Amino acid sequence: MVNLRKGNPILRCVRLVLFILHGKIIYMAIVAPSLLAADFLRLERECKMLDDSEADWFHLDVMDGRFVPNISYGPMIIEFIRKTTRKPCDVHLMILEPEKFAEEFKKAGADHVTVHIEACPNLHRNIQQIKSLGMQAGVAINPHTPVTSLIDVLQDIDIVCLMSVNPGYGAQKFIPHSLSKISELRKLIDNWNLPVLIEVDGGVTLENAKDIVAAGADVLVAGNTVFKSKDPRATISQLRAIQTAKSL
Ligand code: DX5
Ligand code: ZN
Repeated sequence: MVNLRKGNPILRCVRLVLFILHGKIIYMAIVAPSLLAADFLRLERECKMLDDSEADWFHLDVMDGRFVPNISYGPMIIEFIRKTTRKPCDVHLMILEPEKFAEEFKKAGADHVTVHIEACPNLHRNIQQIKSLGMQAGVAINPHTPVTSLIDVLQDIDIVCLMSVNPGYGAQKFIPHSLSKISELRKLIDNWNLPVLIEVDGGVTLENAKDIVAAGADVLVAGNTVFKSKDPRATISQLRAIQTAKSL
């Protein structure tokens, strides 16, 4: 069964469906570099580099020092980043009570807002709020959270952000068990033919990206792999060239 993924129809055609061959659709990975690993003293230059590159989305990590043991940046910085690009701004909220800030992130220019299942006792309400503000809704799950905990919201969301490290820091090692979680989630989504994207976040490298995509990921978030490489643009292109085939 082919799951034609959601999103801008033109981008979907150009980016997701490379070509149809021998009864298979070849999907290219969506690449979402995480600005957390960027040089913030040169933020404008880093954003322009991403904008000129083949990166599909800007992944923006917001941390509150409460849900995760680290503080990053908030809507004010995102507002500046928004001015540098028309690419989708994919905002990953690692914060408690995200409902207090959803509107502010919308105003700052977020296109997608992802909240953590572990931070949201009223998750369904959070999803409705994000959608009512005209943004795509994502739900992130930590490494200890089973994929099955998403069953009752999968039909309401656009993105699952499957954390392959414990949230809070960049440059951590990919947790190998994440691969079986990706496959399990892929099966759930495909069995129900849902237009939900699987985004994998944490420890993605040029070495493991092929396995991650083969397991069923649609979106690769990459911070250090992109920004600490010699040629970030080329690294983005290499990640984006990773493909997966699905039977018709
Ligand atoms: C971790 C963040 C990630 C992080 C990824 O809490 O959600 O997006 O920036 O960084 P790398 O790719 O370096 O693991
Ligand atoms: Zn993230």
